[in-house]
Amino acid sequence: MKKDLLTINDFSREGVLTLFEMSADLKEKRTNGIEHLPLKGKSLGMIFNKHSTRTRISFEVGMYELGGQALFLTGDQLQLNRGETLKDSAQVLSRYLNGILIRTHDHQEVIDLAEHATIPVINGLTDLNHPVQILADIFTIKEKFGKIENIKIAYVGDYNNVTYSWVTGASLMGMELSIACPPDFKPDSLPPLSGDGKVEFFEDPLKAVKDADIIYTDVWISMGDSGDLEKKEKLLAPYQINQKLLDATGKKSLVMHCLPAHRGMEITSEVLDGKDSIVFDQAENRLHVQKAILETLLS
Ligand code: CP
Ligand code: NVA
Repeated sequence: MKKDLLTINDFSREGVLTLFEMSADLKEKRTNGIEHLPLKGKSLGMIFNKHSTRTRISFEVGMYELGGQALFLTGDQLQLNRGETLKDSAQVLSRYLNGILIRTHDHQEVIDLAEHATIPVINGLTDLNHPVQILADIFTIKEKFGKIENIKIAYVGDYNNVTYSWVTGASLMGMELSIACPPDFKPDSLPPLSGDGKVEFFEDPLKAVKDADIIYTDVWISMGDSGDLEKKEKLLAPYQINQKLLDATGKKSLVMHCLPAHRGMEITSEVLDGKDSIVFDQAENRLHVQKAILETLLS
């Protein structure tokens, strides 16, 4: 039976750990120039209705390195955005391709695509969540700390798609997640959770980051955000990751950001480029983890 990746909870804790073993192995193979072509002859369709650098390129290069090919399909070039139904499109694409990666606005579109496609569907970010990002981030944490359980992450800033996936991922993998955001940004309910991780909300970022192993942030304005964005930025101004906040953890902590970053807004350049920042290792690991996801779902 085909397996989709629409949310982190589509994997069990053991499934994630296996994925990380594969990711480490794929990373080593790549470093040593060892060819590994389990997806030879396979094709991934990649539908993008939003911009992307890391997600598009890591999946496209990942398919190529695993022996397959990726087709970059912007929604506007497909008949899909001219009125062909998602159901018809899903059935047709399933006859040609071996998997579909989709980045779009409405999460329901991804659910519907997965329901009507007979091939695996991978969520490359929606307004609701960003599972492939957080899987790669937890892999990076495992690499840096040698463990996942009981690592404390302080997420500071906007409660958005990345935060949603952090909540599901931290809970599944037994991590401790403190979220610092303006009180009005706190969601009415949390996503469905499995696992025994802890999630706590704070208004005061200085309290949230105490004892954190990782300080994490994302942009204040996400793709497709609407409303009074100037007001949103003002409310988020006290939630910037800067040296003062980093010092407030009271221990040596590492800094992560899913990127793209808006320097001087959610994070200062001093911290992003500083010695505790692991953002570019984090970005690189998108490739290794995305390859493990592709091999798991498509081979
Ligand atoms: N972090 C991330 O998903 O980056 P892109 O938007 O560039 O894909
Ligand atoms: N929250 C951001 C993440 C980008 C990778 C966005 O949706 O724009």
